[in-house]
Amino acid sequence: MKIFIDSADLTEIEHAYSQVIVDGITTNPSLLKKALEKRREKDLKQYLRKILLVAKGTPVSLEVTAYTARSMIEEGTKLYQLFNPVAKNVYIKIPINPAFKDADTTHFDGLAAIRELTQRKIPINCTLIFTPEQALLAAKAGAKIVSPFAGRIDDYLRMQQGLKFEKSDYFPATGWIDQGKVWNDNGVVSGIDLVRQCVQVLRQYNLNTEVLAASLRNTRQVREAALVGAHMATMPLEVIQDLLKHPLTYKGMEKFTADLVPEYAELV
Ligand code: G3P
Repeated sequence: MKIFIDSADLTEIEHAYSQVIVDGITTNPSLLKKALEKRREKDLKQYLRKILLVAKGTPVSLEVTAYTARSMIEEGTKLYQLFNPVAKNVYIKIPINPAFKDADTTHFDGLAAIRELTQRKIPINCTLIFTPEQALLAAKAGAKIVSPFAGRIDDYLRMQQGLKFEKSDYFPATGWIDQGKVWNDNGVVSGIDLVRQCVQVLRQYNLNTEVLAASLRNTRQVREAALVGAHMATMPLEVIQDLLKHPLTYKGMEKFTADLVPEYAELV
């Protein structure tokens, strides 16, 4: 499974790329807002170019902000033309349904944008996926990547039940059983279950679309995303760092260091 950093913070991105194996970057308008507020960047174009260069050879997803098919196609094409020449690694992120409520879902804007941009040979990462059927539609429209938001499903299930939790709290992949019933969102029992169902549906029909498990908040979710066959997983830098941690690793280091005989240390 490929590991992506979910960040628009250049310092974090440079750190991750220089010190660990990172296979790509995902950004979104919220991450960009956070990074820009922190850094007080003036020249956004230059800033994004720097990110793309750090990530050279690995994909970077840039999200559109428009809501209609026409404007998403225009924005996606412009973003791609402007930024892909920098390092040839841009994916355009399109929401599966750029609507704010059911009543707004009268057109298939997300799908139309994915299809047209794909025809223009622009690779698409379809975002805000919360059901396997959304993933199926995105794949059929031509998306190269679909991004199910695992953590947000877990939040949604807990919030609906009035459970208090921290964003990084683990939520069981097999679901939360309460009085003999498993909490679920129309048959999806956890964020990882959503990832699993997306992987299964796309695999079943040999669709050439990869699943990027997104909105991951802790290491166990990352492990479970790998276990259910996600092709990629994106996570904040802290979660990437947490992947290395274990008290017995530290203890082992202490013991090996303590046991080091001088002859061995002098070998090299
Ligand atoms: O890649 C999607 C991600 O940025 C959303 O994460 O933790 O805000 O749900 P989160």
